[in-house]
Amino acid sequence: MDIEAEIRALQLDSAEDNNATLIPEDAKPEEVEMTDKVEEEGMTDEVDTKSQPVQAEPKMKDKEVADMDCAEVPDEMESQKKRHLNVVFIGHVDAGKSTTGGQILFLSGQVDDRTIQKYEKEAKDKSRESWYMAYIMDTNEEERVKGKTVEVGRAQFETETTRFTILDAPGHKSYVPNMISGASQADIGVLVISARKGEFETGYERGGQTREHVQLAKTLGVSKLLVVVNKMDDHTVNWSKERYDEIESKIVPFLRSSGYNVKKDVQFLPISGLVGTNMKTRVDKNICPWWNGPCLFEALDSVEVPVRDPKGSYRMPIIDKFKDMGTVVMGKVESGSICEGDSLLVMPNKAPVKVLAVYCDEDKVRRAGPGENLRVRLSGIEEEDISSGFVLSSVVKPIPTVTEFTAQLQILELLENAIFTAGYKAVLHIHSVVEECEIVELLQQIDPKTKKPMKKKVLFVKNGAVVVCRIQVNSLICVEKFSDFPQLGRFTLRTEGKTIAVGKVTDLPSRSSA
Ligand code: GTP
Ligand code: MG
Repeated sequence: MDIEAEIRALQLDSAEDNNATLIPEDAKPEEVEMTDKVEEEGMTDEVDTKSQPVQAEPKMKDKEVADMDCAEVPDEMESQKKRHLNVVFIGHVDAGKSTTGGQILFLSGQVDDRTIQKYEKEAKDKSRESWYMAYIMDTNEEERVKGKTVEVGRAQFETETTRFTILDAPGHKSYVPNMISGASQADIGVLVISARKGEFETGYERGGQTREHVQLAKTLGVSKLLVVVNKMDDHTVNWSKERYDEIESKIVPFLRSSGYNVKKDVQFLPISGLVGTNMKTRVDKNICPWWNGPCLFEALDSVEVPVRDPKGSYRMPIIDKFKDMGTVVMGKVESGSICEGDSLLVMPNKAPVKVLAVYCDEDKVRRAGPGENLRVRLSGIEEEDISSGFVLSSVVKPIPTVTEFTAQLQILELLENAIFTAGYKAVLHIHSVVEECEIVELLQQIDPKTKKPMKKKVLFVKNGAVVVCRIQVNSLICVEKFSDFPQLGRFTLRTEGKTIAVGKVTDLPSRSSA
């Protein structure tokens, strides 16, 4: 069975998904683009217009008092009149993600020539001459020795209109969980593809991370993709238009089948991350006479992303924590706003906390809105009482906590000889939660052709199936229904280091609310 067709059939993010109902019988594959549009319009926390500075509106509906007060405090970031975007760099191992990320920092003046010379020497000493640009992003010894990113690298840079946080994900298949964590914090993705002879082919074949990363990114809510065809300077490529067109034409159908509206949400461009060509300024016609499109900085500058609701209920999944004059938690605000002095809950433990300080990048701010990556200093809780996967949440409307939920799953590719049935165990990745889970019951299989539930009782399913099932975890976790908060209701299941399914939470037990 063609898995890509099946994914398209699921249309994980279709308008109907937002209502947690099924896709109507007459939905046709060509409607992917249309439903994508509806999807964004239907998102509860996102609106399909150009991102604007977070603005407090005097109007309010049923929002809680704490959030409301906070949303009305002027955003210090607003004064800069720059929007903020989180960009995750994804793609197969060695595609050039860290090199391109490092080059961006160099071109934006954040790394001086002396540091580059130091990295050149260090890379040479490690017999990794060509990796010196990647060393800007790959900061730990293991990464530098192996020439592979392990942890998601973070950095900031600014263009004319936008402040960017770069999240440099690892491409190696062993580190997909780290990539998932990076992608779950991102608004847009830069998919880096190596054009070098043989490398594009390896990265793109089944089992390569190009496909896996794209599917994960879409599931994790990365709504827009810039596809950079990298290593155009390589002697096997030499800025060849044929090679570029070949890569584009092979990837487009796959992106479409993964749920991306290629016309609206995807942009291709050629670059050399190592040399820095077509990045800050457009490529010289002497090098690449056929390219008339934008350079990378221009493309990043003009990406439009949905605005999030600054007055929604506060939700910040915690990705990390440490001690520093109190307890500091890190994460991305998925909904609502936070202010110094706010009273919040750390869920699922319902621990009441007070916000002592909020840091955005290096700056202390009084208030921060959705989409921001923050460090928040809290009182009322010890660092050891927090785990990643917990959610800093509003008091009035805390995030639901569950040990069980109902979900619609798209089975991608099971391990050899495995069948997906009640009792199947996997690792659940949902926002910053990583938790063992078990499928306790298959409820319904969805016919990929008609998109309707099949009548026959389902006992097991195979690759490509779409199935509604009950999933259980051992300890309480924080989740939302996809229809309420897409970012907190979409997930992946992995077994033995492989992504075997993607899904969305369709229902929570009625007693789930805190
Ligand atoms: P992982 O973190 O392991 O997934 O790899 P990555 O995608 O971050 O790749 P990285 O930036 O570490 O680069 C891998 C190799 O490709 C290094 O030897 C780079 O010098 C080389 N490379 C990256 N970009 C380019 C490019 O534009 N041109 C050429 N010729 N080589 C490049
Ligand atoms: Mg890397």
